[in-house]
Amino acid sequence: MFDEAPAVLAVLTARDLADLGAPDYTLSDLRDEWGLSDLDLATDAVVAEAPNGKIAGYAIVRRPGTLAVVAPEHEGQGIGTKLLRWSEQRAREQGRPRYRQWIAANNHRARELLVGAGYEHRRSYWRMTRVLDAASSLSRRDAPEAPDLPSGYRHRTLDVARDGETVHALDDICFAGSSDHEPGPFEAFADEHLRAHDFDPTASLVIERGDELAGYLLARRWRGESVGFVDLLGVHPQHRGRGIGTWLLLSAFARFAAAGLREAQLGVASDNPRALRIYERAGMHPRFRSDIYERPAEAPDAR
Ligand SMILES: CC(C)(COP(=O)(O)OP(=O)(O)OC[C@H]1O[C@@H](n2cnc3c(N)ncnc32)[C@H](O)[C@@H]1OP(=O)(O)O)[C@@H](O)C(=O)NCCC(=O)NCCS
Repeated sequence: MFDEAPAVLAVLTARDLADLGAPDYTLSDLRDEWGLSDLDLATDAVVAEAPNGKIAGYAIVRRPGTLAVVAPEHEGQGIGTKLLRWSEQRAREQGRPRYRQWIAANNHRARELLVGAGYEHRRSYWRMTRVLDAASSLSRRDAPEAPDLPSGYRHRTLDVARDGETVHALDDICFAGSSDHEPGPFEAFADEHLRAHDFDPTASLVIERGDELAGYLLARRWRGESVGFVDLLGVHPQHRGRGIGTWLLLSAFARFAAAGLREAQLGVASDNPRALRIYERAGMHPRFRSDIYERPAEAPDAR
């Protein structure tokens, strides 16, 4: 299947154009995802072929949920239903207690299919964006919203070899209360975040207090699009409410802008109002939305 990445990307791109108005997936994103150590491509992903052999649909079942897409020109032929059944079967084999599907908010056919199959909307993820028009406007002196770090805290650029495992442990603590977070092994975390093709250690930061990490921000750089992406941001619960999260965000923006990037983006869950408030105060606006639909899984032998 690895050879089919360009054809699968074509389906994802056609879907993104129809639903979001612009492509959001790259070939490198797809290859990163297919290479994850907690994914078995042979059993966790599938393609649907049209009679002429062209790839018309694709589905992948991962820890955060299933993504299933049908190319717009192949809609209305039952492919989405077949991919849904296949993904439910795979989720049952993985022992998942519920089926979880990600769809673009504008994909009305997908929503109808899921609601008709008994799924309910659980939450959404917003892609937020802001223009980085001038690096200077984000510097400490000119940006009143950029706080100083509280006393006793130090910042430095992330050192992957030194900080990787500590950041992973802190990430599990920070996201323990988040709906879609499942703790996993360090290797899976490193594959997904620290070895991603677009990971940008130069814009990634940690905050220290004494010899402990109090916060972290992992950044990515989408060179072709001149975008800096905030992949993960977390502050230890004991250190929240002191401006550290805001400081990390604005510092990453300043690093993106200093590197010549023109836009910052990130994803945030609709049930995370604290993070949403920080992003809106930092000048970010919603660009598009993905919706998560769920329903309880049947017992493994129910079908
Ligand atoms: C989201 C998160 C990173 C915020 O970190 P934080 O360090 O608490 O963020 P800040 O301190 O900058 O802002 C949090 C609040 O404290 C307030 N605050 C900041 N400095 C303050 C100070 N000196 N005195 C009083 N309040 C202060 C902010 O105004 C903000 O208030 P609000 O919630 O009413 O909007 C943190 O809550 C977290 O790790 N959450 C779990 C992981 C997560 O959700 N990450 C983001 C995913 S997209």
